[in-house]
Amino acid sequence: MYPLKIIGLGPGHPDYILPKALKEIAAAEVILCGTRHAESFDSTGKKMLFIGKGRPLSELMNEVAQVYRSRKTALVVSGDCGFYSLLTYAKKVVPEKDIVCIPGISSLQYFFAKLAISWEDAKLISLHGRDQDLAAALTESKKLGILTDKNNNTAFIARTLQLAGCANSMLYVGEELSYPNEKITRLTVAEALTYQEEGLAVVVVINE
Ligand SMILES: C[S@@+](CC[C@H](N)C(=O)[O-])C[C@H]1O[C@@H](n2cnc3c(N)ncnc32)[C@H](O)[C@@H]1O
Repeated sequence: MYPLKIIGLGPGHPDYILPKALKEIAAAEVILCGTRHAESFDSTGKKMLFIGKGRPLSELMNEVAQVYRSRKTALVVSGDCGFYSLLTYAKKVVPEKDIVCIPGISSLQYFFAKLAISWEDAKLISLHGRDQDLAAALTESKKLGILTDKNNNTAFIARTLQLAGCANSMLYVGEELSYPNEKITRLTVAEALTYQEEGLAVVVVINE
């Protein structure tokens, strides 16, 4: 009987995938992941279950729960497996004792390193598909690391900063991190109000 492996892929570029993660991906027979993730590794000969390609996630996860004991199965997630990933969902359909996690480099960890800014004192939140209280987070820390999505984007964060009286904050936007088209932009709140990202993005706010 096999465990279900949950593997952190890092921000995306193969240079940032840990060797252990690559070995585990190579060994897997069945992989559930996003189509973007599959571009970072060789999926030849594997049964691939793609998120967002027609079948609902609940159905895909049920298939994973049915198959993992008899076939080597992995969920490949972006960044680290313990930071806003499918791990939480997996625990609802697979017993915790059957789950083995392989860490990866989180998009925010990568971005703080690129900015040469330490993050031990940062408050990390996710606005990706959820509405965490950004204004409350601002009262807790002067340094925020934020996962974003299409709606909860840089302009939304800038509006919230303005309303919270933090108009002097600086925003750093990291787009398509680790990929050849990586883009890092430093913005004032006023500039960020009309900023439009071109792809996946994280935002670091320094609230002086
Ligand atoms: C579902 S969350 C997963 C977070 C992931 N577990 C991590 O540790 O980074 C997806 C969000 O991560 C961020 N993200 C992941 N990869 C990224 C990349 N290469 N560049 C910029 N943002 C990225 C984006 O904010 C995206 O909306």
